[in-house]
Amino acid sequence: MRTVFRGKHFISLDDWTKEELDTLLDVSYDLKRKFAMGIPTRYLQDKTVFLMFFEQSTRTRNSMEAGITQLGGHGNYLDSSTMQVAHGEVAKDTAVILSRFGHAIACRNCFWEIGNKYLNEMAKWSTVPIISLQCDLYHPMQAIADLMTMQEKLGNLERAKVSIIWAYATTHKKPISVPISQALLFPRYGMDVTLAYPEGYDLPDWVIGKTEENAKRGGGSFRITHDMEDAYRNADVVYPKNWGSWVTNQSTEVVDELLQSYKVWKCTEKMMQLASKKVLYMHALPADRGNEVEDSVIDGPHSVVYDEAENRLHTAKAVMALTMGGR
Ligand code: CP
Repeated sequence: MRTVFRGKHFISLDDWTKEELDTLLDVSYDLKRKFAMGIPTRYLQDKTVFLMFFEQSTRTRNSMEAGITQLGGHGNYLDSSTMQVAHGEVAKDTAVILSRFGHAIACRNCFWEIGNKYLNEMAKWSTVPIISLQCDLYHPMQAIADLMTMQEKLGNLERAKVSIIWAYATTHKKPISVPISQALLFPRYGMDVTLAYPEGYDLPDWVIGKTEENAKRGGGSFRITHDMEDAYRNADVVYPKNWGSWVTNQSTEVVDELLQSYKVWKCTEKMMQLASKKVLYMHALPADRGNEVEDSVIDGPHSVVYDEAENRLHTAKAVMALTMGGR
């Protein structure tokens, strides 16, 4: 078991070895058990994590704020629009200064072709760990909580059939960071991953290449289909969630002709009936109810979305405990 994490950045799960991820999960389970029993876990007493947001958040912000409190430290919420970043202060200066004040800098920046570069620029200059709270390419906090949830519900994940399925939504042009992080991660744990989407919603070619490599090394498999029903058929886990057409169209317009032509890509009870009897329905949330999914599915017996969201707390605490404390 890997035990040395202090100062390690958390930007992409692909930068963490499987052994490191196994420790992260192990610590998450330990923290979850202790939380359930009311056992204090003040591992980060008097430590500060800066929580810098360029976008809205419910789960990520609050799992980090509640998490750092439960670890005995302090979370300092920073809305980027009220920082000097809004007047053009660069990532380097922000990272150097916040490093001097505290013990980690967590940041969400999902602007296309900017977010990941911004986090890596901060990592270049920061003397404390940079923790991604989602960028244009990765959402490691979400993917690790998803993995934990699947382990809890299914046990052994080897050869489990997981389908990451594009779904219709009109709320906002969502980043591609969730499907990318999941596609890269799940085959490392031996899962058989299907990525399903209508033409025009491709993930970058480098993601597909890397995912295939991860599948070879992890003993899982990876395939792409443009047939929604094919993705649901016999699946053990379905993850129907919208993402934007960022790779093929960089416009920030939310609803366009392409999107409107795929309204049928909705998770319905009829689709769920094609899957395995005990199929899990998962979603990172927020869900676009009525568009991405029928209420009867997300509120139904196969849905594990609230357990999945709760695991955001336990995994976030594990990331902070290991990278800000530990040894
Ligand atoms: N799933 C997720 O990251 O939720 P928030 O956008 O509410 O943080």
